[in-house]
Amino acid sequence: MRIKNICCIGAGYVGGPTMAVFADKCPHIQIEVVDLNEEKISNWNNKDLTKLPVYEPGLGEIIQRCRGRNLHFSNSIKEKIEAADMVFISVNTPTKTKGIGAGKASDLKWVEACARQVAKYAKGHTVVVEKSTLPVRTAETIMSILHSSKSGHNDNMQTTFNVLSNPEFLAEGTAIKDLENPDRVLIGGENHDAIKSLTEIYQNWVPKNKILTTNIWSSELAKLTANAFLAQRISSINSISALCETTGADIREVSRAIGSDSRIGSKFLDSGPGFGGSCFKKDILNLVYLAEYFGLPEIANFWEAVVHLNKWHQHRISKLIVKKLLGTVIGKKICILGFAFKANTNDTRESASINICKDLIEEGAILFINDPKVRPSQISIDLDKEENTNLKKIKDQNFLNNYEGEWCFEKNILSAAEGADAIVLLTEWENYTKIDWIDIGRRMRKPSWVFDSRSVISKEKVLEANLNLWKIGDGTLK
Ligand code: NAD
Ligand code: UDX
Repeated sequence: MRIKNICCIGAGYVGGPTMAVFADKCPHIQIEVVDLNEEKISNWNNKDLTKLPVYEPGLGEIIQRCRGRNLHFSNSIKEKIEAADMVFISVNTPTKTKGIGAGKASDLKWVEACARQVAKYAKGHTVVVEKSTLPVRTAETIMSILHSSKSGHNDNMQTTFNVLSNPEFLAEGTAIKDLENPDRVLIGGENHDAIKSLTEIYQNWVPKNKILTTNIWSSELAKLTANAFLAQRISSINSISALCETTGADIREVSRAIGSDSRIGSKFLDSGPGFGGSCFKKDILNLVYLAEYFGLPEIANFWEAVVHLNKWHQHRISKLIVKKLLGTVIGKKICILGFAFKANTNDTRESASINICKDLIEEGAILFINDPKVRPSQISIDLDKEENTNLKKIKDQNFLNNYEGEWCFEKNILSAAEGADAIVLLTEWENYTKIDWIDIGRRMRKPSWVFDSRSVISKEKVLEANLNLWKIGDGTLK
């Protein structure tokens, strides 16, 4: 079975970039990316590539090459499913907010809706591929929906299905690189022909030895496990950074020392403000729920501790900022550098900046927030608080002290630093590493503090500018 027409349901952070790379590498396959969201589809079709709904280095160039050729974005879900011989489900699977498993289990209502749409509209033989991250055994649910309505509406043509699991391991900010050169591609399934048809697609650019095939449940569980292991490393290193700060050790030296053990490895050992992103917390909590569900409370507690540590670590940073700013931040101007959950993405989901900014606003601070890619409207949603744009018009910075617990967006870092008591770096954007600290230092109110939660700015240059510095995990600073 050679695949000629793919439909991907879900034009989000995964569906969009993944299908763009598929289209680029497989010019012989027509790819249709569909979504319920009309505004999103219209942005994917926008001629102005800065308006694409997802910011990823390299994505714009691929869209320009493939869009309209063999890559199309639309809201015509029925029509595109009908025409497809392979359908990817790449929709959101957030944590349930109510009912059984609330706060931990995945909400599968969007996945279920997709399965029903495919059951209703597919024609002929269709391979359904789980691209979303799903709890182990979700394929069973999908299969039962597909098979229960097999006779469906489909005129004379007999409709049959196979289900595969093909989880996505891309990280945001490096999505194109990860998709073009993946460490591995994982395909779980029971049907040999279906596995072969998906393997053949990947073989257009991925070496065969990097394509792993497993049974479907191993594939589903491996995705959750990979994210749990990665997040666990970050909580582990962040726990040690707190210890470094009180003992005179330096987390970068500790990371280097342990990372050179080939059994540990050097990647994912950068201490920061705590992991964010749409996946880690959600997927670990899902694993916790599964362990509880299958009667394994010790396993649930083990993984839940990774999430607890992360939350504690973020509040630890907010508290130490208040403490260093003489015990109160009421009416004090604080410049926040970075709102995205990591550099090179416009995604703010679960960003450490959200919790830290909320804590500081709660303490009464006046935040001037800067980020090269995140829009003020998104920050307002995340902080659940309107931007006060009047703050930017105030010329005499001392007058800001009349305000309490407000925020505004400031594009210009120098203006954000004017009269500020502190600068808090939360996302490791490259432009923040090039700041002229002497110039910034002259503009800030004394005593002035710089808090570097990513350990990316030059300690020497900040100290030379007569600024007080706190750097994550650096126990040599007083
Ligand atoms: P997203 O929220 O960015 O995109 C999901 C899209 O699906 C939305 O645009 C939504 O409108 C659309 N959608 C939902 N139900 C639909 C339906 N029935 N028909 C048509 N469209 C529908 O989500 P995302 O970040 O792309 O994540 C998708 C999945 O991939 C999740 O399971 C996630 O855990 C997983 N994943 C995400 C990443 C990541 O870096 N974001 C990486 C690997 C895996
Ligand atoms: C993650 C997984 O890496 C990816 O394989 C999966 O498909 C989706 O989830 P993502 O969340 O996009 O990807 O980014 P990632 O690079 O993993 O970073 C997650 C968070 O951990 C970010 O907040 C990042 O700043 C933080 N992080 C990462 C650290 O604090 N230290 C590190 O050493 C690495």
